Amino acid sequence: MKITAGLLALAPFGAFAQDCPVEGDPAELEAEAVVEIYDCIEARMAEGYAANGGPVAAEFRSWQVTSTRPALAGPHGERFLQTFANDTAAEQYLTFAEDGFTMPAGSVLAKESFAVKEGKAVPGPLFIMTKLAAGGAPEAGGWLYAALMPDGTEMTIQQSFCAGCHLNWEARDSLAYPLEEVRRSSQ
Ligand code: HEC
Repeated sequence: MKITAGLLALAPFGAFAQDCPVEGDPAELEAEAVVEIYDCIEARMAEGYAANGGPVAAEFRSWQVTSTRPALAGPHGERFLQTFANDTAAEQYLTFAEDGFTMPAGSVLAKESFAVKEGKAVPGPLFIMTKLAAGGAPEAGGWLYAALMPDGTEMTIQQSFCAGCHLNWEARDSLAYPLEEVRRSSQ
């Protein structure tokens, strides 16, 4: 008995998870098809990130979701993306304002992702931005960037890599926002 339990614990993560098949070109999928794929894969994604043990990975799914469904966007590596905003961030973020604001310190945005490989959806990284107190990380627009692998392991990233692109949206405090057709406004 003991040996069997040990072997199960050693099995690679997700070995027993069901496949989430994707038919056709991911860029051509209808909204309902994307939702179906997400329904299939979302528990596996949440479980993987949560293995990190940190508060963001454990809690982000209870935050405000900012889109009506995950959407395929190029800049984060041809992945389907869905962003969640914590309580501090949600009110301002969900206005999707173009300028004239700074996000409150303590705002956290967590963006989960999945990709399609060989006809199957596979979990991608969780991307995280945290707004620091005034004066923090001026070269990165006041944000701390982080990312977790699908198994919850922290990725080694360069602040300058993330900020270098996000600063294209300097007037709106480095926020890129979800694609317009999936934005969910505040409720
Ligand atoms: C080449 C440009 C580019 C780079 C590099 C980049 N991002 Fe992004 N990021 C975007 C775009 C575009 C979006 C909006 C995509 C969407 O949700 O449709 C985005 C959205 C986000 C969001 C959701 C909040 C928002 O801006 O609306 C987080 C969190 C995030 N990125 C974190 C990161 C982290 C962490 C890194 C570095 C590991 C990084 N990004 C690197 C372009 C980039």
